Amino acid sequence: MDPGTPQNRDTWGSKTAFILAAAGSAVGLGNIWGFPTQAGMNGGAAFLVVYLIAVVAIGAPVMLAELVIGRHTLRNPVGAFKQLAPGTSWWLIGAMGVVGGVIILSFYSVLAGWTLSYIVRAATGAFKEGVDSQAIFTHVSARPVPAISWHLAFIVLTVWVVLGGVRDGIERWTKVLMPILFILLLLLAVRAVTLPGAATGLEFYLKPDFSAVDGRVILSAVGQAFFSLSLGMGAMITYGSYLSKKEGLVSSVGWVTGFDTAIAFLAGLIIFPTMFATGFDPSISGPGMVFVVLPSLLSTIPPAPYGGLIFGTGFFVLLGIAALTSSISLLEVGVTWAVDEKKWSRKKAAIDLGAISFLVGVPSALANGAVDWLTSLPGIGMDFLTLMFTIFGSFALIVGGLCISLFVAWKWGVGAAGDEVRATAGTFPLERIWIVLIRFVCPLALLVILIKTLFDTF
Ligand code: TRP
Repeated sequence: MDPGTPQNRDTWGSKTAFILAAAGSAVGLGNIWGFPTQAGMNGGAAFLVVYLIAVVAIGAPVMLAELVIGRHTLRNPVGAFKQLAPGTSWWLIGAMGVVGGVIILSFYSVLAGWTLSYIVRAATGAFKEGVDSQAIFTHVSARPVPAISWHLAFIVLTVWVVLGGVRDGIERWTKVLMPILFILLLLLAVRAVTLPGAATGLEFYLKPDFSAVDGRVILSAVGQAFFSLSLGMGAMITYGSYLSKKEGLVSSVGWVTGFDTAIAFLAGLIIFPTMFATGFDPSISGPGMVFVVLPSLLSTIPPAPYGGLIFGTGFFVLLGIAALTSSISLLEVGVTWAVDEKKWSRKKAAIDLGAISFLVGVPSALANGAVDWLTSLPGIGMDFLTLMFTIFGSFALIVGGLCISLFVAWKWGVGAAGDEVRATAGTFPLERIWIVLIRFVCPLALLVILIKTLFDTF
């Protein structure tokens, strides 16, 4: 279905469907891969605490701001800002989101490609006792042809779902599978915390040492919160624009942030005990960390060898689908824009933008051992994928979040936003708190973080 004009736009089937779709956008590799990786590199429990504060004080209010913009204007991010602030440059925030979505998708789909390839490994019984997880990861990520092919496969899947349109494409997937993923994660967490030697990992993850908190930890935590909640680039504006006028926004925000955070927390509860129990070092950075640790855990699930096979296959299938319900929101921002503003057909938009994303992603696919200089960029030291994540998956989202909160708080106005929230639900729970957060706390905190980062970098 086409997004159509604001008057005859496709809408989500129900509030539950919307919450699930938004949660589907939020829950993805950011939770299972990003959160433990960032927490591991940034001090464990201290990171967790800063992260939780960031979600509540910054993430949730910005999410509400994005949803309100989307539902009020019923437009793509560029069109939304043009409507609310005609003749100004605010639409550039939306444009940044369109570009950002395509770029984030470019490396996201590399990681998701590894996930697809792990489905095959798991199903063929690779995750059994004595598994050499490092060797498996190298086999998957460091050979150019498979790395690029899986990346391509995932982009094709994403384009295919986006072609189906909002209701038929996105909703159907998320409804059943999200809850199953949650239950599976609970089971894996139980297995992880009962491994011999898990206690040290739990301590690392749950006993904060605040002396470890510095500017870098705060930047990573806030960036991770934006990434995980799909904020800062118009994805929630786009999803909000498909939300029917009947639904309450504040409770939706509560559900989505709560669910997303619970899943990230569970992922940490799975990864850190396993890491310590199996002797990995949590600060071994690099995008492969989670992909190296998980097979070790899966291989310990009884009865051998079927436990690893069944749970492993189930887990990576669900992770692949969680990644898909996220990646479609990355592509959907650009597609909605191209259909609304450029009058492209949905098909052309999805295929063309998908193709660009694929090409931009090729260096990321080659940055994990396939090509040496991409694996360790000269003068920067990190791999290309991590660099892309740092710039577009973290820094740019914070810039976007800053602009969006400034826009809603000081340009469009909290009064108008409040009217939109109340328009249908009748009430606006927590309005006062939201106003303080979006006016002062979000802009100031985000501005300070950005300035500090720029000073530290240059
Ligand atoms: N939130 C998703 C995840 O955690 C990734 C994602 C989807 C995203 N859409 C986004 C990140 C928009 C930033 C902006 O995996």
